[in-house]
Amino acid sequence: MTLLNVKSLSVAFKGHRAVNDISFHVDKGEILGVVGESGCGKSLTSLAVIGLQPSVMRVSGYIDFLGQNVLALNEREWQQIRGDGISMIFQEPMTALNPVMTIGNQIAEMFELHRRCDKNAAKVLALEMLEKVHIPDPSKRFDAFPHELSGGMRQRVMIAMALACEPSLIIADEPTTALDVTVQAQVLDLLEELRENTDTAIMFISHNLAVVSQIADRVIVMYAGRIVERATPEVLFSSPKHPYTQGLIASLPVMGESHEELYAIPGTVPALDERGVGCVFADRCNRTSDVCRAEQPEETLVDNNHAVACHHIGEA
Ligand SMILES: Nc1ncnc2c1ncn2[C@@H]1O[C@H](COP(=O)(O)OP(=O)(O)O)[C@@H](O)[C@H]1O
Ligand code: SF4
Ligand SMILES: [Mg+2]
Repeated sequence: MTLLNVKSLSVAFKGHRAVNDISFHVDKGEILGVVGESGCGKSLTSLAVIGLQPSVMRVSGYIDFLGQNVLALNEREWQQIRGDGISMIFQEPMTALNPVMTIGNQIAEMFELHRRCDKNAAKVLALEMLEKVHIPDPSKRFDAFPHELSGGMRQRVMIAMALACEPSLIIADEPTTALDVTVQAQVLDLLEELRENTDTAIMFISHNLAVVSQIADRVIVMYAGRIVERATPEVLFSSPKHPYTQGLIASLPVMGESHEELYAIPGTVPALDERGVGCVFADRCNRTSDVCRAEQPEETLVDNNHAVACHHIGEA
């Protein structure tokens, strides 16, 4: 069942599109990975989906969540959806948590607000939540303040808060980027476990293709505001078709090789006002031809559930 259906979404700043005409969907219970370098429009896409885009941004297109066109909602209706329908986990939990309130009370408050529980019932549910996200010794940690916890534990608290109202969709924007590799793996395991035990779908965003592929059922690759390729992680790794995806894979560290030998895609993501007609990747691509400079490539299906936007698919 389709939970979220995004059609021709654009997010523009002063007439320049940071997100440019993208379409995708998220099914109930699945994990959709979104990958691309910094500046590709991942965060603005997710903020538009939850109605929190910066006020300077103009959003256009169509976002359907459970049959409702959410772009037409007013702020009060949005508040209903946030928490109950869609909730969000950010990269840095400290900015989302209240520094002067204990973590237990912050989670309990979610239950009081969204499920209209009384204080005692909310505390019981909050303790259960702490246990669910594997915070050791929940009754003791209930009274801890955010700064008393490690980064990984704080991210678990954020996940507990995001899950408190049993949303159908969680958007996780770089949830593990600030964590070291071991803690990152634990948080990924936790998200996977929650997905298995609940019906919650996750839109998992990261600049790191290896991390996204580890957890996602399907992946969309974004470059400079566009979706350039989409497939399952297995297909992306075994037969990446877009030069950008191929570059991302080539830049991944290989076990046993020194970091000095790491490949990097030459150049950088163009600024919003430097994106002209033609393929957005043309300045960094090794296959650029006249047609690439002249025309934006359309997305083409190369196989079941594998689509690519490139004029020279398959030509190396
Ligand atoms: N509030 C803002 N005002 C102006 N430009 C912005 C704002 N937020 C993001 N941008 C620009 O939009 C583009 C996409 O940003 P973002 O969605 O944050 O990318 P990502 O999350 O993939 O790193 C970037 O070029 C960024 O500079
Ligand atoms: S359309 Fe052209 S410039 Fe763009 S990725 Fe394909 S080959 Fe490269
Ligand atoms: Mg971002």
